[in-house]
Amino acid sequence: MGIARFSEQWIERVKSSADIVEVIGRRVELRQSGKNYVGLCPFHSEKTPSFTVNPEKQFYHCFGCGKGGNVINFVMDTENLAFPEAVVKLAQEKGIPVPAASPGEQRREKEREQLRQVNQLAARYYYRNLRLPAGAQARAYLQGRGIGQELARSFFLGFALDEWDGLLAFLTAQGVDPAIAQAAGLVTSSKRGFIDRFRGRLMFPICDHLGRFVGFGGRSIGDAQPKYLNTGQTLVFNKGQILYGLNWSKEDIKAQDQVVIVEGYTDLISLFAVGQRNVVASLGTAFTSAHARLLRRFCSQAVIAFDGDTAGQRAAWRGMEVLHASGLQVRVASLTGGEDPDTFARTQGVEAVRVWLNTARPFREYQIDRIISQHDVETREGKLAASTELVTLLAQLTSAVERDEYIHYAAERLGVREDSLAAEVGRRLGIAGVSRVQNRRNHRRGTKRRRALEQPMEAGEDLREREVLRYLLQEPDLLREVQARGVTAQDFQDPDYRHVFISLSESISDERGTAIASKLLSLPPPGASWEECLESFLAVLKRRRLRKIEEKLSLLENDREGFDVRMELYQLLKEYYGICRDDSY
Ligand code: CTP
Ligand code: MN
Repeated sequence: MGIARFSEQWIERVKSSADIVEVIGRRVELRQSGKNYVGLCPFHSEKTPSFTVNPEKQFYHCFGCGKGGNVINFVMDTENLAFPEAVVKLAQEKGIPVPAASPGEQRREKEREQLRQVNQLAARYYYRNLRLPAGAQARAYLQGRGIGQELARSFFLGFALDEWDGLLAFLTAQGVDPAIAQAAGLVTSSKRGFIDRFRGRLMFPICDHLGRFVGFGGRSIGDAQPKYLNTGQTLVFNKGQILYGLNWSKEDIKAQDQVVIVEGYTDLISLFAVGQRNVVASLGTAFTSAHARLLRRFCSQAVIAFDGDTAGQRAAWRGMEVLHASGLQVRVASLTGGEDPDTFARTQGVEAVRVWLNTARPFREYQIDRIISQHDVETREGKLAASTELVTLLAQLTSAVERDEYIHYAAERLGVREDSLAAEVGRRLGIAGVSRVQNRRNHRRGTKRRRALEQPMEAGEDLREREVLRYLLQEPDLLREVQARGVTAQDFQDPDYRHVFISLSESISDERGTAIASKLLSLPPPGASWEECLESFLAVLKRRRLRKIEEKLSLLENDREGFDVRMELYQLLKEYYGICRDDSY
């Protein structure tokens, strides 16, 4: 059931017939205060009310925790529902008929259902194979990894025989059209016709969070490469949206308000085996905001339990950023010495697992410690290099409180003065204005130069700023995502838009901001999706940032004033190539 099923008009109709004060009033005791209603925020704990409902604009906002939105967002957040589910619930309450899916949507849903059924049939076939004489080698392999029969049964583990067409023959006998098996990613076409995609592999069926079979991970039990072969992208299988195990773990995740995230199927299975059941595995891909949103529906805390090496990699850091941006509290439980959660759980047992997860550190501390441990900070060079990396990390923190907190932590860890580190971070952020070097130049050359540093807006750039803002106004939750991608108020060149962005990020509202916001909200809906708008906005930022550095570099080119300049040059170049390489734009 996609959002596309409902027209903007119908959603508007539901929104306007549901009275936000009444809906929220069922959960929050509200009292009138001027034009607004106020009460204790249901999203964070507080003693004095900072949760405001505006009946005129039909939205709510908490000045304490920053949560806000319209009546649909409220239902989504308080009842763990996805957008379409929340609108349908409100519509039903109001007796508004829910539109039937369009013929196109019905056909696509039927197609998806077919693919899930074929996957389920295949799971049954693989499951049976594992129990046949031909599955002896796979059984021995599982035994060797400490996965007993019962565990194998709980996860529907199976075996793809080392044949070209074992599954194909089975499915055909069941009346399945090979073209559909191909669409499900189970067979591929080759010169000799259709052949099984998975051969001679241990099979891990992958379900979506509703427990529907959507794909497989196949592990070779010999030397065959790759070690893991997964279902490719299909209508029902998209690695960026699926988390392995969530169908089995969601109740525990909800009950504990915490999810443990591991990398591999076997990590998850071994944790389950020792009774740690609030786990999902990420299928070896980077975390997407779709993953984060899915998890956010079940809990507010995430513990990343990767092995030490992968948890230290920048790809994993980006994942942490994505999870953090979705509003999850993120901690890292690291392992050392080439251990992964699977071997750790099997060799150390229940108690050790519990202790290990309980000692997980906030991800920022983990990152800071990690940077420091990668340099020899006993030497001056090591200390400088570590501090440069730390400044890069700290300058990315968008909340001033968080930044100060971790500047303090990092300075202590590194053994440098807190104000020195803070000054470096400020310089990087441009908070203290332009750097000293830059200042001198501007004095000397007058204002002409300064103007050159300000950038002309390119056609369409203001439009991109505007579309991103419009989404932010509608879904304040997206703000964190935008901030996590390094966007700051300075990135909005239109003064009005910058003003709204600042109001949003600091949760202040004034007349000017409200006026601009309501003008923006009254425009027809954005033509592009949120993802598209954000991507093109980031592309603009990348161009602008690179241009700005190029300007500064050209200013520095002829300078011979020693260390300061060399440091600045080095910093700029590092930043430049950092931006060029950064694929988050
Ligand atoms: N993965 C993958 N393709 C690969 C390697 C890994 O899709 N070639 C994914 C799998 O989902 C795997 C996860 O990344 O479970 C973690 O990889 P790795 O740590 O190598 O696998 P383990 O789960 O530790 O595998 P094993 O213990 O079976 O060696
Ligand atoms: Mn492993």
